[in-house]
Amino acid sequence: MAEGQAIGYPPGLKELIQAVEHTRPERLARVKANQHFPRLTRKEGEKVLKSYHPDYKPGGRRKLRVGANKSEILANEVADLLESYSRIDPDAFDDRLKKPDYETDVLILGGGGAGAVAALFARQNGLRVVIATKLRHGDSNTVMAEGGIQAADRPFDSPYHHYLDTMGGGHFTNNPYLVKALTMDAPLIIRWLEDLGVMFDKDKAGNMIELKGGGICRRRMHSSADMIGAEIMRVQRDEIRNHPKEIQVLEFSPAVELLIDETKAVSGAILYNLETREYSVVKARAVIMATGGFGRLHIQGFPTTNHYGATGDGLVLAYRAGVPLVNMRYAQYHPTGTVFPEQNFGLLITEKVRTLGAQFINMHGQEFAHPLEPRDVASSCIIRECMERNGRIVTPTGHYGVWLDTPMIDLLWGKGTVEKELSAKYLQFKRYGIDISTEPIIVYPTLHYQNGGLEINEWGATRVPGLFAAGEVTGGIHGDNRLMGNSLLDIHVFGRRVGIKVSEFIKARKKGKRLSLSHLRSYHADLRKTGVKTKRVAPILLPDYVHRSAPACPHKF
Ligand code: FUM
Repeated sequence: MAEGQAIGYPPGLKELIQAVEHTRPERLARVKANQHFPRLTRKEGEKVLKSYHPDYKPGGRRKLRVGANKSEILANEVADLLESYSRIDPDAFDDRLKKPDYETDVLILGGGGAGAVAALFARQNGLRVVIATKLRHGDSNTVMAEGGIQAADRPFDSPYHHYLDTMGGGHFTNNPYLVKALTMDAPLIIRWLEDLGVMFDKDKAGNMIELKGGGICRRRMHSSADMIGAEIMRVQRDEIRNHPKEIQVLEFSPAVELLIDETKAVSGAILYNLETREYSVVKARAVIMATGGFGRLHIQGFPTTNHYGATGDGLVLAYRAGVPLVNMRYAQYHPTGTVFPEQNFGLLITEKVRTLGAQFINMHGQEFAHPLEPRDVASSCIIRECMERNGRIVTPTGHYGVWLDTPMIDLLWGKGTVEKELSAKYLQFKRYGIDISTEPIIVYPTLHYQNGGLEINEWGATRVPGLFAAGEVTGGIHGDNRLMGNSLLDIHVFGRRVGIKVSEFIKARKKGKRLSLSHLRSYHADLRKTGVKTKRVAPILLPDYVHRSAPACPHKF
């Protein structure tokens, strides 16, 4: 294909679209009459999850052999990550640790939203901050967020409703204290973001436009077209640049190991410069882990919505230092990952598309699930449709999917709505000759979110003194399944909380003198003692697509 030439759907898929078009007027009339596809009951939902959710598939998980979660059953890819050796030889660092390259109050590992918010609040509390980030500052899942951020700030809604929705979405496996913090702080976070300059969608009178997401009982999703993450990150990066004396940003410098001192408190980290290939030592009075999620582990071969650096680094670093993991049983597969065109394979199609009226349609033009089931249930329904019910679409390269009938949106809300409300998606497909305001798109679940992670308390403190955490690297807030818009919220609520708490910790902490990697030596010894024979090293830092095949839809001809 010549550059700039957009080809659109091939004839075979165009033909299949006719079945969708055929049933559309009737579906439209039903929606207008407020007659929606029925939601599954709790029991039906559990049945479909057990039969079709990828994490229930036999063979995908195994027992972990080392560390605080020893004997727990985890995804093979996560167990492999944790049962791996360090990238560094601790003996080679003995001298280096005596002369740190940087000294600061707080070292923040991760340059996404959680790290940015933590940095701003730590600075506000009088601390000097170093942010070390693997790629460019802001390159993260935050900047890629599309749909919105939840906060109960309208009449007839309340943190109480938000709390119940969040607990229900997580199948009541969430830590209730964390959910309380999340939902109670949410309105103040929205005000803080507005004050910082985030441009939320508003009506002509200046009121926030708030929408519904999957599994929630009230409209409380604050959006910015379909680019809320880019909008938030734009403002936060700017604010950080306003304080260059107090907040230093080290780009292309992921952490490869945490450091502790003789008081057993985490006291810094070793960074690896991806450009110069040199290590540096940062001594800090506290460390905040904000490294994000693990989508690039491609659990069970699924593609992912995640950014290139999302390789679960924080999990393994903190685990070696003794932090337990919680809620690691299920990953989140977003129901609507792109299947066609293949250049966009696995990329997110925001849930907002369904909030605005797009429906799940099978090959025969039939709707087969309520558009706003919680994500784990919706994904399972799609997989069932593709595997068991013969309703799947098959692309020219053999990938499965179902239709997401986006043309419903303009028909419901008026011409131009797709282009205005979903401008990024509209352009993304337009580039390939597909007009999503008039043609449906093909979707299949894609690995989206980690759900679980490092155990923290309501202030983002881990069990290991000196180590705090915020954002996707943590667990317990969302239980086994996160609701839309609660991730952007959690990075803010807990980013702010750690930013505040860390200053209290630092004031009270005893000063350690000697940096050490003794925890790593113990972890290595444990691996050897348990008989883990492997050449794997972690953190992975960047996914290796050279020595393994690129991720593909695991359900393929
Ligand atoms: O569908 C979405 O826009 C994703 C949002 C989220 O994961 O919170």
